[in-house]
Amino acid sequence: MIKAFAPATVANLGVGFDVLGLALDNPGDSIIAEFTDRPGVTIAAIDGDGGKLPREAHKNTAGVAALSVLRALNSDQGVALTIHKGIAAAGGLGSSAASAVGAAVAVNLLLGEPLTKAELLPACLDGEAIASGYHPDNVAPCLFGGLTLAYGIEAHQIQPLPVPQGLSLALVTPHVEVPTAKARAVLPQEIPLKSMVKQTAAVARLIRAIYEGDLESMAVAMESDCVIEPARAHLMPMLFEARRAAKAAGAFGLVISGAGPTLCAICASRETAQRVVSALNAVYQEVGIGCTTRTALVTTEGASALAYDRL
Ligand code: HSE
Repeated sequence: MIKAFAPATVANLGVGFDVLGLALDNPGDSIIAEFTDRPGVTIAAIDGDGGKLPREAHKNTAGVAALSVLRALNSDQGVALTIHKGIAAAGGLGSSAASAVGAAVAVNLLLGEPLTKAELLPACLDGEAIASGYHPDNVAPCLFGGLTLAYGIEAHQIQPLPVPQGLSLALVTPHVEVPTAKARAVLPQEIPLKSMVKQTAAVARLIRAIYEGDLESMAVAMESDCVIEPARAHLMPMLFEARRAAKAAGAFGLVISGAGPTLCAICASRETAQRVVSALNAVYQEVGIGCTTRTALVTTEGASALAYDRL
């Protein structure tokens, strides 16, 4: 039996739609993989999802990723998965990617680790694809850890970026669901040239700020998104009020995490992030919307084994 842990992730970092992402030190999903007599992949149990996720392996991101690993290895083994969801689905913290990555890593370890993490990437993307299409901005940081730039879907196209010193995040997840498919359906199919120029400049500034460890410039660049945020803002309750409150409490900036509704504020220390979290809580309390808040750091550890027991 193998238990793997896969971290939550923040995709996009504002302007880096579908290409940038980072892994959080909390929360995460745990996936147990064990051999079973039934060939293929079976979902033995899922908890923490309120009964919402599909139990059929071919409809579940973890199940699809596990099947893809078995297929890549031409294995006729039977594998059962038990999924502990620490990340709420449709919340903007890479829940579907974490289940896919956790399952791929767990199954690979169960089989004696025949594949490297880079070789597991296609299976992880297969799993993620059934939830939100082929883009590695959640899967890459979840699998490899840290801050990642993905300029393609192959492992050699995933570039690790340095994690700026002090980077601390304040996260708020209002209790409304924003399914990724819905958040992608509202996006424009065509972008005016002026927007393209502004967005390109912002991504370039963001990458430079990351390499320079300049958190303030990083946050300004992240917030300069003139394509995705304007199209999605109406799906994110209290986005602008939360941004104002976060900055008043010391954050450098705040953006939508992935497809939302989680919002992610960029701070220079854990202490500031804690103050920002209190301010964000107050914003949602005032309007009677429940929310979950947390502070987090970027973890450079990607998905990995939690425990290894031979039964
Ligand atoms: N880049 C994706 C999006 C992340 O914003 O739609 C969610 O899968």
